[in-house]
Amino acid sequence: MENYNDNLLDPNANEDEEIMEVSLRPQKFNEYIGQTKVKENMKVYIEAAKKRKEALDHVLLYGPPGLGKTTLSNIIANEMESNIKITSGPAIERPGDLAAILTNLSERDVLFIDEIHRLNKSIEEILYPALEDFCLDIVIGKGPTAKSIRLDLPKFTLIGATTRVGSLSTPLRDRFGIVSKLELYSVKDLTTIIKRSSNILNVDIDTDAAEELAKRSRGTPRIANRFLKRVRDYAIVLGDGKLTLDITKTALNQLEVDDLGLDNTDRKILETIIYKYRGKPVGIETLAATLNEEVETIEDVYEPYLMQIGFLARTPRGRIVTASGYEHLGIDYVS
Ligand SMILES: Nc1ncnc2c1ncn2[C@@H]1O[C@H](COP(=O)(O)OP(=O)(O)O)[C@@H](O)[C@H]1O
Ligand SMILES: [Mg+2]
Repeated sequence: MENYNDNLLDPNANEDEEIMEVSLRPQKFNEYIGQTKVKENMKVYIEAAKKRKEALDHVLLYGPPGLGKTTLSNIIANEMESNIKITSGPAIERPGDLAAILTNLSERDVLFIDEIHRLNKSIEEILYPALEDFCLDIVIGKGPTAKSIRLDLPKFTLIGATTRVGSLSTPLRDRFGIVSKLELYSVKDLTTIIKRSSNILNVDIDTDAAEELAKRSRGTPRIANRFLKRVRDYAIVLGDGKLTLDITKTALNQLEVDDLGLDNTDRKILETIIYKYRGKPVGIETLAATLNEEVETIEDVYEPYLMQIGFLARTPRGRIVTASGYEHLGIDYVS
């Protein structure tokens, strides 16, 4: 069996997982489960763009890791019948890198920039005229003989993805005609996703087992697929390979994922507020420092789900644990 010690909620897929993700990744809208509003809107925009024979407006997708931003971007390109070029904010280091990417695009191509909030300022500024007027201003030479030339670019579509829309500068955000937020998935949608993945992976799974997995996957398809893969290994070792409710529960308990999908860090976050700060509101910086975690990790990976299930709340003075959070941990709530 493989190594189970890595962080279950690691927002980024590792190499091994990338391979699995590619095989499980929906290619078309009809395979993309849930996110109905985003999907329906996008279908209209795509159809309209295709009828006008124009590039789709620039699209910004945001939401926690693992919700399907990269997947949706690929689907958009597929449905537009366009090529997609994939890069990320941190990968574009120098203005020349961006210029090279932009000048190599063709009419109606999709340029996907993952983690777009991590683009550096000097690069962002080159992007503005490219997005707005489809042109690129480049300076040739230095000093008094330097001259600026303007290159025309093909009409392309930028799709930006980010977990932190708040970190995007206003001028950049304003240049996206379509801004869509991906939401955590319902248990019902996750159950469908798990069944679909099981099918592709040739895993025989009981419906109640799929639902149990869905309930513990914290609204996130990537986590659902990750759990499915791990539980499958348990099923092979403990049983005949069939995913039953029993095996699913045993495996997830073994992984220290509780019946609502909370892991050790989730519990530590709640317990820190309750015990260390005696239930008083705690600022995110303080909380992160106490837990020895990055603010970003807590905000992007842990908080969205804890807030969604109503265990954690934000107040002007900091984070607090709700009565249901106390109850889940079996701690008496004193307000
Ligand atoms: N709507 C969906 N329907 C089915 N599977 C999905 C959906 N969204 C995501 N997935 C699965 O979850 C995995 C992670 O999604 P990804 O697009 O990489 O997330 P993000 O880019 O937001 O971090 C994908 O490989 C895919 O298998
Ligand atoms: Mg992604």
